[in-house]
Amino acid sequence: MLEIYNAAEDSFLLSEVLKEEIPKLLTKNLTLLEIGAGSGIQLETARNLGIKNIFSCDINSLAIKHCKKLGFNCIKSDLFENIKGKFDLIIFNPPYLPEDKKEPENSKVSTTGGKIGSEIINRFLEQAKFHLNKNGKIILLISSLTKGVKFNNYKKKLLKKKKIFYEELYIWKLSN
Ligand SMILES: C[S@@+](CC[C@H](N)C(=O)[O-])C[C@H]1O[C@@H](n2cnc3c(N)ncnc32)[C@H](O)[C@@H]1O
Repeated sequence: MLEIYNAAEDSFLLSEVLKEEIPKLLTKNLTLLEIGAGSGIQLETARNLGIKNIFSCDINSLAIKHCKKLGFNCIKSDLFENIKGKFDLIIFNPPYLPEDKKEPENSKVSTTGGKIGSEIINRFLEQAKFHLNKNGKIILLISSLTKGVKFNNYKKKLLKKKKIFYEELYIWKLSN
């Protein structure tokens, strides 16, 4: 059975960045979408910062059930498959590690991004551009262990980097 991803260093770093960035973006009706809500840590951060229009999805039914219990709008979707409309802010702490045969099946959905680690991220980047409002932003976490990320035409700014154990985490702000 799949597990819900326990908030870890990556989650805390993203949450810290949201606390810095959201107040700069906040307008009365700011709409936020989180892909891969997991334990709901980022949704809680956004709610605590005063965002009223929060949407989210996950591919893991357990995570969806959990986030709904916390009072969030969360649906089952493989990335944007079931997401309609455009948003001011889209956030994603994705599975970003390259495949590791030793990784247990039940945690892979949260950690493994594909053979080289960037496959899910690259699918996300392809789809996300169609779901951004004018002046909309993406906040995306990746790791030094993720190979082959294709930012293509996005404008990008590195918001934060942090060395943890054997990897470095990066948080990017992207726009069309
Ligand atoms: C690293 S966890 C992050 C969870 C939480 N947002 C956090 O920051 O702690 C990645 C999450 O993405 C979800 N996920 C993986 N692949 C997905 C996909 N294709 N579409 C939507 N969610 C996905 C996983 O189930 C997991 O909840």
